[in-house]
Amino acid sequence: MRLLVIGGGGREHALVWKLRQSSRVEEIYCAPGNAGTAQIGTNTPLTDHAALAAFAREKKIGLTVVGPDNALAAGIVDLFQSAGLRIFGPSRNAARFEWSKIFAKDFMKRHGLPTAAFGRFTDSAEAHRFCQKMRYPLVLKADGLALGKGVVIAENGDAAAKSIYRMMDRGQFGEAGRGIVIEEFLPGRECSLQALLDGEHYLLLPGAQDYKQIFDGNLGPNTGGMGSFSPSPLLTAEMEARVHREILEPFMAGIRAEGITYQGVLYPGLMMTAGGPRVLEFNSRFGDPETQSILPRLKSDLLDLLEASIDGTLDQCEPVWDDRAAVCVVLASAGYPGPCETGKEILGLDKIPSDVLVFHAGTALRENKVVTSGGRVLGITALGANVEEARKRAYEAVSHIRFEGAQCRRDIAAGVE
Ligand code: AMP
Ligand code: GLY
Repeated sequence: MRLLVIGGGGREHALVWKLRQSSRVEEIYCAPGNAGTAQIGTNTPLTDHAALAAFAREKKIGLTVVGPDNALAAGIVDLFQSAGLRIFGPSRNAARFEWSKIFAKDFMKRHGLPTAAFGRFTDSAEAHRFCQKMRYPLVLKADGLALGKGVVIAENGDAAAKSIYRMMDRGQFGEAGRGIVIEEFLPGRECSLQALLDGEHYLLLPGAQDYKQIFDGNLGPNTGGMGSFSPSPLLTAEMEARVHREILEPFMAGIRAEGITYQGVLYPGLMMTAGGPRVLEFNSRFGDPETQSILPRLKSDLLDLLEASIDGTLDQCEPVWDDRAAVCVVLASAGYPGPCETGKEILGLDKIPSDVLVFHAGTALRENKVVTSGGRVLGITALGANVEEARKRAYEAVSHIRFEGAQCRRDIAAGVE
């Protein structure tokens, strides 16, 4: 079968790498891809969805796999399906859990899923009034997609008022911030859960943890994610049972009751609090860099799982997971998560041990050299008997990579029991 993977980050390189291992796959295209996907597949620069559908028809693509949230929110799945093309991912309507936080919060309330107490507003005067009677800190969230930048933790009334003004009155995030959610701050530790859904059943993948802030010790601004590891010790057998009972089962019952057909990845971001797991948000795609530490642990054929999600047969799948731990350390360009310089040559890729994985994100090929082309540049993933061993091996490999201005956190997966 020929496959097309949409996207060009570390997540997509990991997907292409894993799908390449399937004996049923002849060829993989990636749109737009990066220097890493170009080594194991064929990149195409197309981004327009109608052009991608035409490409899929012309190349006789048997399955298209969607990486990023914005393509799902724009309805790429609906477009491909109406053209009779097979595609993995939720429809625009199902992906609404990610592209509208107001919708997701209201859904959780309707169906009793545990989440932070909240108010949701489309009128800024009402939002201001609500903040006056709340305890701080408060968390303010733009309703729509905002590249991971739409969440502000306000320590006091002044900060909350400024955020409301910026998001709702000044239109900092455009339409995405016209509506906002304001919710209570939940102390705890975060865990990324991912499940595959086929409309009827779900299959939980191993837990992972992500490091969102740019600097060690979780300081500085939020990024797309600076590293990850799997499995997560937060997801004990007891917690996992609670996650099934309190989150995934009510979610499935809720979508069934509301007639929402959900096929693809459901990725709830969780806060593990003293009172149990709470849903911070839903994403409707694979996490990045979580995918870079989860897929290396999958021993089974990923294509089988993605096809089962489309065919409604996930209940028949029993994927086998590697017991070893995986740690992914992200190398980013200077300036990230703000504007960064690109075009820097990446050296040392040839020195990486063969059993360590280098997933490319913002990289490109220029005159046979691999150069930086974005904020997050590489994800280096190593496996080990435990998290500590995997962490040591990942950082040992990281030490071989050089490019001007390279930055990475030094505390990914540190101190994990
Ligand atoms: P979200 O996009 O909703 O997951 O929020 C982005 C990040 O903000 C999360 O990964 C958390 O680190 C933080 N966050 C979001 N909501 C809350 C909350 N209610 N309490 C504490 N931290 C939160
Ligand atoms: N690593 C966070 C995300 O994929 O949204």
